[in-house]
Amino acid sequence: MRVVCPGSFDPVTLGHLDVIERATALFDQVVVAVGTNPAKARLFSADERIEMLIEACAPMPTVEVVGFVGLLTDFCRERGAVALLKGVRSASDVDFERQMAHMNAHLTGVETILVPASPTYGFVSSSLIKEVASLGGDVSEFLSPSVHRRLLAKFDVA
Ligand code: PNS
Repeated sequence: MRVVCPGSFDPVTLGHLDVIERATALFDQVVVAVGTNPAKARLFSADERIEMLIEACAPMPTVEVVGFVGLLTDFCRERGAVALLKGVRSASDVDFERQMAHMNAHLTGVETILVPASPTYGFVSSSLIKEVASLGGDVSEFLSPSVHRRLLAKFDVA
């Protein structure tokens, strides 16, 4: 069975990778769907975000990384995915994801599976990582070395 792990991954963190790896233990195939809506401002381009994920997921042979635009439910249908799988860190994450899960189920009947973020990464988000890194704080523990290097280069603090 195939599952989709969606996100903007701007950039991918070790928290994301933990969820993706756990998805590989549950499903035969995992499609990491990278939202590439050009109307949304991102630090990393779609190509950069996809490239970083391909590199980070290389040790996981059942994972495929694909960019998508438009409705996530259409993407799931095109790919023959039975479910969406996302990590949640907090009650507010659950509440937000619950709304999207119901809307996505309404659109195509796709199921959503929410998994609790590992305690190690329970406070890690891409937006917080970017803010701290832009101000010179050390976020190396939460990123792969390659993603960390790319992030420092963006802020010219390498
Ligand atoms: O990293 P994020 O911000 O949690 O990722 C959000 C993403 C890309 C999964 C979400 O914005 C999304 O599903 N976008 C596709 C458009 C869509 O289907 N919107 C309706 C959601 S109910």
